Amino acid sequence: MQKILLIGNGARENAIAESVVKFGYELYGFMSAKNPGIVKLCREYKIGNILDAESAVNFAKGLNADAVIIGPEAPLAAGVSDKILENEIPCISPTKCLARLETSKEFARNLMKEYHINAYPKFEIFKSDEIKEVFKFIDDLQDVAVKPIGLTGGKGVKVTGKQLNNAEEAKTYAGEILKKDNVVLIEEKLEGEEFTLQAFCDGENLAPCPLVQDHKSAYENDVGPNTGGMGSYSDKNLMLPFVTRTDYEDALGNLKKVINVLKKDYGKYIGILYGQFIATKDGVKVIEFNARFGDPEALNVLPLIKDNWIEKILDKKLSSGLKFENKATVCKYLVPAGYPENPVKTEISVDESKFGNNSKIYYANVYEENGKIFSTHSRAIALLGIAETIEEAEKIAENSTKFVKGNLYHRKDIGTKELINKRIEHIKKIRK
Ligand code: AMP
Ligand code: GLY
Repeated sequence: MQKILLIGNGARENAIAESVVKFGYELYGFMSAKNPGIVKLCREYKIGNILDAESAVNFAKGLNADAVIIGPEAPLAAGVSDKILENEIPCISPTKCLARLETSKEFARNLMKEYHINAYPKFEIFKSDEIKEVFKFIDDLQDVAVKPIGLTGGKGVKVTGKQLNNAEEAKTYAGEILKKDNVVLIEEKLEGEEFTLQAFCDGENLAPCPLVQDHKSAYENDVGPNTGGMGSYSDKNLMLPFVTRTDYEDALGNLKKVINVLKKDYGKYIGILYGQFIATKDGVKVIEFNARFGDPEALNVLPLIKDNWIEKILDKKLSSGLKFENKATVCKYLVPAGYPENPVKTEISVDESKFGNNSKIYYANVYEENGKIFSTHSRAIALLGIAETIEEAEKIAENSTKFVKGNLYHRKDIGTKELINKRIEHIKKIRK
């Protein structure tokens, strides 16, 4: 049996672990904390610093691993995939150089501009001595997104009308980022509905997953601070109720273009490419790329996959695409009280025996100690419902929240008919 080493220990990695085992591989885990969901599926695991490439390689070599999958972005930025590849172990994750698509928003936006992948908002990148130019750019645009260029766990971007009240606050925030990082990205604020398209890549071909919509805002009705994502849903037929065929084709076309231009200058992309898109009045635009599965979006797509994606990537056979069960899914994250700003550690107890058949649980930023589960500073437990419709899947996920105890909260509105209708009305209004 082939051995897969999985690096990471969030809910996304719990879903990857489940899929690895489902397709008949022996799973090994390298984690920074003991994730009870992953531990259950592993033959063996090691707790350590997942950013330490040397430790990852030594573990993989000791096991004689047939391939390595890296779940989160931070090890990609730390060059873990490069070290794995140097040791001639196949890695289903891109190199550090290619992962700049995610780890440097400057790289990603400049790549799109240079290669005329014309699905980006107006943007400028400013260095520390350009604060006057920053102010002028913000004055000209008024409504902006202010972004650190590096990784911030989804919590660094602030947008006027959401986390920023006006252009003056945008200037203040841009100034803070400049002081800290010596560089800031300012973009025109785009108006529309966001969606995620993830695709598997084997270096040549790309196989898309069902579309997903994530919910970044901490609180119901899309208010509050940005989070890593509070929950997500997907629909039957790979689509979403507010996305047109043209939107879908354009989004997929953008991913294909990116893979092709990267191949020319930076190498073949192997792993998962994630596009965050926004459907606007002027068509689809790219918000950002990620070099890995989304979290929670991985949870919506991986349980539905029918083909052995690991084998297809390793054998470079993705040209025939990948099949998914034709179902809808809803994922809800339970997060510690006070998250994301002042999360409070809590003990968590779960009664999995009460969950129904079409309900799944994935453990996120929790750890197990003496048989007890505790939350940390971030999202704790993800609950997934799978059904024929989004509405039914929502009810399943919501019902499961009753069987998880702890000082946690979640968004009840994700996947409800009311929220989906709001999305549909929003896009109609924008595009009328
Ligand atoms: P990012 O970290 O780039 O995904 O940004 C986090 C969130 O900020 C996105 O999911 C969007 O909701 C929002 N955002 C980022 N860029 C823009 C933009 N140009 N216009 C409007 N909203 C944006
Ligand atoms: N769901 C957002 C992300 O994974 O970056």
